[in-house]
Amino acid sequence: MADRTQEETPYVDALLEYSARETGRFQVPGHKGGLAADPAMVELVGMTGLINDVPSVTEGVDIGPEPTPFQQAQLLAAEAWGARRSWFLINGASQGNHATSMALGHMGEQVVVQRNVHSSVIDGLVLNGLRPTFVAPELDPELGIAHGLTPESLAAALDATPEAIAAMVVSPTYFGACADVAALAEVAHARDLPLIVDEAWGAHLHFHPDLPPAALESGADLVTSSTHKIVGSLTQAAMLHLGHGDRIDPAVVDRCVSLVETTSPSGLLTGSLDAARRQAAIHGEELLGKTLEAIYRTREQIVEIPGLAVLDESMVGRAGIAGWDPMRLSIDVRGTGSTGYRLYKKLFYSHGIDLELYSENVVVGIFGLGEPATTTGERLVAALRAAVGELEAEPREPQEKLAPPPPWGELVMTPREAFLGPQEVVPFEEAAGRVAAEGLAAYPPGIPNVLPGERLTAETLDFIRESIAHGGYVRGGSDRELKTLRVALDR
Ligand SMILES: Cc1ncc(COP(=O)(O)O)c(C=O)c1O
Repeated sequence: MADRTQEETPYVDALLEYSARETGRFQVPGHKGGLAADPAMVELVGMTGLINDVPSVTEGVDIGPEPTPFQQAQLLAAEAWGARRSWFLINGASQGNHATSMALGHMGEQVVVQRNVHSSVIDGLVLNGLRPTFVAPELDPELGIAHGLTPESLAAALDATPEAIAAMVVSPTYFGACADVAALAEVAHARDLPLIVDEAWGAHLHFHPDLPPAALESGADLVTSSTHKIVGSLTQAAMLHLGHGDRIDPAVVDRCVSLVETTSPSGLLTGSLDAARRQAAIHGEELLGKTLEAIYRTREQIVEIPGLAVLDESMVGRAGIAGWDPMRLSIDVRGTGSTGYRLYKKLFYSHGIDLELYSENVVVGIFGLGEPATTTGERLVAALRAAVGELEAEPREPQEKLAPPPPWGELVMTPREAFLGPQEVVPFEEAAGRVAAEGLAAYPPGIPNVLPGERLTAETLDFIRESIAHGGYVRGGSDRELKTLRVALDR
């Protein structure tokens, strides 16, 4: 990449040059650079967006003399994140997890997987057919949330699964807890296995020395990164980064990324990755520095609100927490006597504030790289102060605390066999004892309670019912009302 620097945005430039030429457009998309667009679409996307909605397979953008601007943009991303190779993804980190899972598929039959991985990793198991050994993350019984995986738990699971071909873990968590990825990598590498890290929430970690170390520099072999979450690409635009070891073949990853990707990737999404990469590489440290300072001030104000506490670096050292990412502002609401659900609703409906996540005890707001966090933080603090005051004044029905989730059921089939094999639909009340053909995760916090292939237990079904009664919701079931469940036919 001698002829391109991180200051440049080759893909964005190529798109803009193409649009500026006002080429007669006799290819897709049918809105023809906005000429044929419905006024509502123009209002939604703007003419600039429509003019630059250039499809793939365009001369001088992603085909033509190599390296094409598209290839250059991916090379610059790899350089910026310190990867051996990076792939742009236009179906989110979910696509990264699907591609990763497919890439592992031909390597063997078993894999060790952290239990509270995102649903896209579980979907990846349906795609690749591997038999998982699940490892429980460290649970925080007080806060009712899960943290990371300890190296000891990973080592025990790998020892119990001698045929495993890889270990798949997630760090950071939704709440900002970062695992000791370097130690996890050592554990996996000592058995000559690749460590796959879902770092969907950590695309920014590489760009500021005060943040916990990023997975790639900690030795991870393949890292899914949801660039759109905190580093500012457009929604859906993410990346997959390959580490510097030789345990994963880039050619296999390449073919698997294509397998789970549209043949018409959006130029706007791809361009947004190119632009976000420049922002992070050139200004990331300075912008993050300012945002972090503002977040620390915001935290100080939040803890002065009666009943609120902030989860912060003092959590580091607990099992499964080796670092803390302050870009997630996780607020412990237990002292208010109310719940995260109620606070979230109050903030949304009465104070125009939307949060990323809420659970019974904790709510989470996220900050973006480059966000003017002093102003946005002040707005959040004012709304929290008012909402907590209002909740205090409201009559409240006493609500019993939600019991912790029961242990998960035995895995009797692989997720693929259960999800794709013969199955039937049974009433929810009659599902205990059957093998789930679909996963169920009560949100928040979204840790799967049931995965395809696991035996459904009465305790788990009760927990799911209770969780809904407490204001949560359940994802994964094909019957959204959960009156019925899909179960595998017993063989
Ligand atoms: C840990 C984790 N991995 C993967 C994903 C999927 O990311 P995306 O929405 O970019 O597909 C999420 C989404 O929240 C996530 O939390």
